[in-house]
Amino acid sequence: MSNQRTRFALPAVAMIAAALLAGCGEQSKIDPELTATLIQPVARVEIKAVTVAPGSRTGEQIVKSICAGCHDSGAVGAPKTGDAGEWAPRLALGFDALTASAIAGKGAMPPRGGGTDLTDTEVARAVAYLANLAGASFTEPPVEQ
Ligand code: HEC
Repeated sequence: MSNQRTRFALPAVAMIAAALLAGCGEQSKIDPELTATLIQPVARVEIKAVTVAPGSRTGEQIVKSICAGCHDSGAVGAPKTGDAGEWAPRLALGFDALTASAIAGKGAMPPRGGGTDLTDTEVARAVAYLANLAGASFTEPPVEQ
């Protein structure tokens, strides 16, 4: 008799345990891909909220958010930020030629350094800021208010 009860009780316990576990699982079940897609739009909005509208970003803002990705470390052969020696032969090309390279892309550098929504003037501002850190004295085109 007790044997029969045990046989009946065990599956019941197992079922309750499974139900409880499933309940727990519901909360901790995280799909990283789904989470990323859910978070992304919010993150984008927040980035837009703290930075300024496209078109009126300063050279410093652009360099720190985009160009530094390669130039600070010298990744993929980028002339390093602030390295006068590495930049000297490039600075000799002049501001307009450097800006043209940055807009069009050069070698491993994608057009606009990958900042696809940068305006030409914004790229010019970034070039001036970046080059000036390496000893140039270019005038960064002002941001119109
Ligand atoms: C994906 C990496 C990467 C990013 C991001 C990047 N650069 Fe570059 N940059 C390079 C590399 C590599 C070179 C050297 C290209 C060559 O001479 O082959 C370079 C060269 C340059 C030059 C010299 C061009 C010349 O004619 O010699 C300028 C100016 C420049 N980058 C500006 C920028 C600016 C401004 C940004 C941000 C808007 C930026 N870069 C973002 C990789 C990058």
